[in-house]
Amino acid sequence: MLLAAGTAGYGRELAGVVALEKLGGIVTKAVSVAPRAGAPSPRVAEFGGGMINAVGLANPGLESVRSEHLPWLLERLAGAPTRVLVNVVGSAVEDFAAVVAGIEESAAGASGPRTGPDAYELNVSCPNVRAGGMEFGADPSTLRAVVAGVRAVTRRPLFAKLSPTLADIAGSARIAVDAGADGLTLINTVPGLVVDVDARRPALGFGSGGVSGPAILPVGVLATWKVSRALPGVPIIGVGGISSANDALQYVIAGATLVAVGTAAMREPRRAERIVGDLADWCAARGTTVRQLVGSLQWPA
Ligand SMILES: Cc1cc2nc3c(=O)[nH]c(=O)nc-3n(C[C@H](O)[C@H](O)[C@H](O)COP(=O)(O)O)c2cc1C
Repeated sequence: MLLAAGTAGYGRELAGVVALEKLGGIVTKAVSVAPRAGAPSPRVAEFGGGMINAVGLANPGLESVRSEHLPWLLERLAGAPTRVLVNVVGSAVEDFAAVVAGIEESAAGASGPRTGPDAYELNVSCPNVRAGGMEFGADPSTLRAVVAGVRAVTRRPLFAKLSPTLADIAGSARIAVDAGADGLTLINTVPGLVVDVDARRPALGFGSGGVSGPAILPVGVLATWKVSRALPGVPIIGVGGISSANDALQYVIAGATLVAVGTAAMREPRRAERIVGDLADWCAARGTTVRQLVGSLQWPA
């Protein structure tokens, strides 16, 4: 069980609240080459199906992350099995490799039990500013260039995080894997609009945003099923709407090898730990294991 990107900061905010060492891992908030101020407030709003956010990928930038935030997190988890995945964003193709190369450079110069992250997660669902804002993952040659560019600067595992709005998510997943990705993270938020009816304005300062939480669970499970069927054996991190063991099991049965919790853990920081316990109980009661359940979905004939 992982904490999903952008919902657990760089771990510091959770210190003392969440037993990070009991989780499978933490995916950091996005890291871009330069610091990003992000979107105007309000940046998040709730609705019946979960949450909508337009954070604008606000983050302190590569220099600050590699010199302060990441070393802190790696030191804090020095003796723990907890994996650290760094989520990477860019506004141009070359930004992704620049961020990863910068982190690799710091890792090579560091000492201690843990010098660098365990993997990278490439947020190719963000807008490519030079291509008029179309997301990186939506254009095959851009997706290929982003993944191949990063592959050239690190040997650590790479996960490409895809949007469920892609016309052919399994096809995009295949392109990412062919370009050097080791796995996929499915899914990012779903574009949406929540209206404040009294003000007749969007609930978010930016206008539209990304929907997360229970409303997107079936969307993520279907994306996972499509990709796992098309690319058997390729690791998938299932994320989107998980707030219970049942939700996590749906992703696993559809083919996810690992799952992550975002919105539900923002509401209740220890939710991920609780789901891990519930999963163990569920499996024990049925004499099975999560590993045995991966991809066990029986599609109607
Ligand atoms: C406030 C917020 C910030 C997020 N920031 C990022 C981010 O920096 N990078 C990224 O790839 N995904 C980001 N996401 C998407 C989540 O990692 C996750 O894919 C999505 O929220 C669906 O999972 P959930 O329904 O469990 O929240 C963010 C989501 C939220 C709610």
